[in-house]
Amino acid sequence: MNPIVEILPDKAALIDRAYALTVETVKSAIAARGQATLALSGGSTPKPLYAALAKADLPWEKVYILWGDERYVPHDHERSNVRMAHEAWLSHVPIPADNIFPMPTSADDPARDAADYEKTLKNFFQLSPGEFPAIDFVLQGMGDDGHTASLFPHTAALDVSDRLVTVGNHDGEPRITFTAPLINHGQKVVFLVAGENKQHALSQIFSADADAHTYPSKLIAPPAGPHWLLDAAAGKGVPDQFK
Ligand code: 6PG
Repeated sequence: MNPIVEILPDKAALIDRAYALTVETVKSAIAARGQATLALSGGSTPKPLYAALAKADLPWEKVYILWGDERYVPHDHERSNVRMAHEAWLSHVPIPADNIFPMPTSADDPARDAADYEKTLKNFFQLSPGEFPAIDFVLQGMGDDGHTASLFPHTAALDVSDRLVTVGNHDGEPRITFTAPLINHGQKVVFLVAGENKQHALSQIFSADADAHTYPSKLIAPPAGPHWLLDAAAGKGVPDQFK
């Protein structure tokens, strides 16, 4: 793992930096490939980032939105990651509806919905069998237990390596989630983490001997990064040699 670690003084500075990095990555992807693909995370941390992106002046018709994970609820449910991103950001910018790919959660069969999303990704990226796409910008959050996306500690999803999308499990509640290999093929994988409560998990993720099945964010080791954006409170958990 050759992580990039940036520790910002507070949450506001963290979000400003995350906004700048997102916009910079989107613009360079469009310059290089004519489009930018982003995979969003859910939870509460990214909400102010999404609100800032709602005001960004970007060529939205060239921006494509995926999700890295979703709770297994309808898209209008208050816990839906799709709903949160629409309310904070996507409904405020002129991005074509066809550019937005929510994870399906309506088959009443998580495995089927995961397989459907896998098909969506294969079609969109025109993948050959066994190929993983290099998503331009993959935004990851991290829980205080060290999970990321819906890759929770000691769950079967952590060991899925031959798929793009699988079924996660959070205390018995099904989730749809990117697999670790898909995240690790990301062009730019950014963790956005804030708060004292994330310190311990970070100290484990940055220590050589902690077990990745106990701290699943440790599984995320893309060639370039990951790029950790932390506030000072969370950053206290990172050993000095990484700062
Ligand atoms: C989700 C997320 C999840 C989240 C972490 C951190 O669906 O909840 O994708 O992985 O990023 O749980 O959540 P907070 O940002 O709320 O701490």
